[in-house]
Amino acid sequence: MKNRWIELLLLCVCLLRFSSMVSPLDQSREFSEAKNFEGSSDLVDLQYHMGPVLASPINLYIIWYGHWNQNQQATIRDFIYSLSSPSSSASYPSVADWWRTVRLYTDQTGSNITGNFVLSGEFYDFKYSHGGYLSRLDIQSIIKNSVTTSDPHTLPLNPHNGLYLVLTSTDVQVQDFCRAVCGFHYFTFPTIVGVTIPYAWVGHSGTQCPGICAYPFAWPKNSGRPPPSMNGGHDIMKPPNGDVGADGMISVIAHELAEVCSNPLVNAWYAGDDPTAPTEIADLCVGVYGSGGGGGYVGAVNKDSWGSGYNLNGVNGRKYLVQWVWSPVRRRCYGPNALD
Ligand SMILES: *[C@@H]1O[C@H](CO)[C@@H](O)[C@H](O)[C@H]1NC(C)=O
Repeated sequence: MKNRWIELLLLCVCLLRFSSMVSPLDQSREFSEAKNFEGSSDLVDLQYHMGPVLASPINLYIIWYGHWNQNQQATIRDFIYSLSSPSSSASYPSVADWWRTVRLYTDQTGSNITGNFVLSGEFYDFKYSHGGYLSRLDIQSIIKNSVTTSDPHTLPLNPHNGLYLVLTSTDVQVQDFCRAVCGFHYFTFPTIVGVTIPYAWVGHSGTQCPGICAYPFAWPKNSGRPPPSMNGGHDIMKPPNGDVGADGMISVIAHELAEVCSNPLVNAWYAGDDPTAPTEIADLCVGVYGSGGGGGYVGAVNKDSWGSGYNLNGVNGRKYLVQWVWSPVRRRCYGPNALD
């Protein structure tokens, strides 16, 4: 079963050569098998490969590529603030509580992944510096542009504890976006950016593929009937912050941040034998947001009186729905909203 799972996964991921979040529906077969991960650990061979993790406080830089509205930006910004907020600013289970599972990963010196994110700069690439159709490598050129442009809001180039997060707006097409990936993380190449720095990209799927990358806030029209648990599609969850694409991005951003911190140079924490197609700590739990989740069922999560689904609290009264990650201590997918 394990071999079959890995084989199916490699089939899908081997094309990518980047460490990516693979959409649940592209992998519906693995996805249904992934149900097992919540309860059992014998399928998973997550290993440490001796590379660094992001253990120092992180200076996060956001690059807003394309056209964004302020509500979308505020939703995402508040999520970043929530990652390292004190427990007094968001009640349990909070985003910071969720991040505690990621912090359980250490490097060979015994240093844990940091719990400290500082949003240290934002760059507005509203002129679409590299156009409306981007290759994967273009994301690195966009980072290069953000640290070299003469624009007064230019970002610092920070190879010591910098992490760059490129977010593309709903009208921007990115290579493999919606087909194979909703986001990915990697590290910059010295030939493009001048130094090696970890980065992540996530796209706003609102008009291109909400049913794939903003699941479960949208159901793909061409995928056949929704599962019975959704009452024929009528019970599709409403996004807690009112924007299907942006709310869907939150879980993908969380996924990529968890993985870039635990596997920044793609030589630290991953499962599988193939380092070009690593299965990382969030890949193991795609589609699982609560107890019992998997196989198309999100698991036990909360619904507010408007029907919005969420499993975490954030700063400023925010609510977010974020997938679980693999816990190295519990040896299963876990989040702070777990019922056991
Ligand atoms: C660091 O990781 C170890 C091993 O998983 C864990 O026991 C410890 O609680 C972690 N410390 C923090 C602050 O998360």
